[in-house]
Amino acid sequence: MRREQWKSQLGFLLAAIGSAIGLGNIWRFSYMAYDNGGGAFLIPYLAALLTAGIPLLILEFAVGHERIGSAPLAYAKIKKNWEWLGWWAVTFVMFGIVLYYTVVIAWCLNFFVLSFNLGWGNDPDSYFFKDFLSVSKAPFEVGQIRGPIFAALAVIWFLNWVVLYRGVQKGIELANKIFMPLLFFLTAVLVFWSLTLDGAMDGVRAYLTPDFSKLSNPKVWIDAYSQIFFTLSLGFGIMIAYASYLPEKSNISRNAILTGFINSGYSLFAGLGVFSVLGFMATSHGKPISEVVSQSIGLAFVAYPKAVSLIPSGNLFGAIFFLCLVMAGLSSSISIIEAFTASMVDKFGLRRKLFITAVSILGFLGSIIFTTQAGLLWLDIVDHFLTHYGLVMVGISECILVGWFFRLKVLRNHINRISSLKLGIWWDILIKYFIPLVLGIILFGDLYNELSKPYGGYSWTSLILIGADWVLLTLIAAFVIASRPWKTEHRKAGGRTHG
Ligand code: PHE
Repeated sequence: MRREQWKSQLGFLLAAIGSAIGLGNIWRFSYMAYDNGGGAFLIPYLAALLTAGIPLLILEFAVGHERIGSAPLAYAKIKKNWEWLGWWAVTFVMFGIVLYYTVVIAWCLNFFVLSFNLGWGNDPDSYFFKDFLSVSKAPFEVGQIRGPIFAALAVIWFLNWVVLYRGVQKGIELANKIFMPLLFFLTAVLVFWSLTLDGAMDGVRAYLTPDFSKLSNPKVWIDAYSQIFFTLSLGFGIMIAYASYLPEKSNISRNAILTGFINSGYSLFAGLGVFSVLGFMATSHGKPISEVVSQSIGLAFVAYPKAVSLIPSGNLFGAIFFLCLVMAGLSSSISIIEAFTASMVDKFGLRRKLFITAVSILGFLGSIIFTTQAGLLWLDIVDHFLTHYGLVMVGISECILVGWFFRLKVLRNHINRISSLKLGIWWDILIKYFIPLVLGIILFGDLYNELSKPYGGYSWTSLILIGADWVLLTLIAAFVIASRPWKTEHRKAGGRTHG
């Protein structure tokens, strides 16, 4: 069977950007910048983008394109007994991240609907934690499934299913061609709207005023590098799968540079909106910004609803905001499911449509634990372990496998043959030494913090049972799948270049 291909380079680019731009760009980046030196944070952030993000993105694009396969297939073609690494990447993102990521998108969908009549009432804080999530006291007190979340989750999985069922061109490519321009447009509407609010400039000032003294703190640099890895969806085999659908003639390095800069540019721009709204809140409550700022869940589901209730025609503002989150989230969750699907299809020759249906149902069922009253706690723990350890460990192994067990020069020549920007030996050095070193430092820093006190005040038992086991179980699953025989001939076919 012929491998599906993107219709156009633009389609591929939008899909890669769609994966990269996600919830993290909207609610994680801006707070991180604010907390790590404001405008000065752009220095480590740009350094991380240039020395790790884009080089690794080029690597992932090149691996998928040159070896013509999803992560497990491409890795198996590089070194037979490293196939497990590809499986680990795609299983833990499929049976880890996407399961709770879709639940957060479901919350956004709930809040999109609530926006129309400001359904969170006068006290969004208590609404979110008590009425909406009804959070239980400990991770193992799961309580009941929350009906509205469950219903929204079904819608989200249905949407994932529809897009993926239609295949690469008619599904993923088309969806991103609609979602991305619309997302950019709506984000621009929100940002300009936010900038007109009272106090917006105070917010922008808090967001961007540089504090260069922070740059001597290693944490700031570590945050910049981890944010870059997460935001570019690196290490999960996603970009490898997407690049495997590229035609022979494809400008690999240009696509990677565009993806990297558009993704970061979007974060920076969206941050203007986020901080204008925080500035507005601070002004209306007569408080300093530092007392109203928050990030991630607190920002989207507590601070924003509060602001929306104060903004004239706020319900429209809120609806656009949550719609943006839903679109940004969906294009990322689609990419995750595709990374796993492509792998299974490559290895077992499964019928794509049938498999998509099965995996969507399975994913939906797997997500349900996160819709219970303990959902937020599970989400917090699993997210912590997967994004801190899973991501970093896979990233290091990826650089080692490709950098040390494969003649990197073959890959570099392949890229240089078809791309406009030619890579020099510096790229090899970054992949072989620099990036594994940086990731190693992040890993040790995290481990040190981990052992000095249990994360988030949870008990060690729940951390190990839920978080650490999640990382381990996906690793075991990866070895099991890798040990199964290949049902397709793909692996024998090799890559586009030989040598
Ligand atoms: N890049 C996405 C974001 O910033 C997150 C993501 C992680 C997407 C892993 C896909 C896979 O939100």
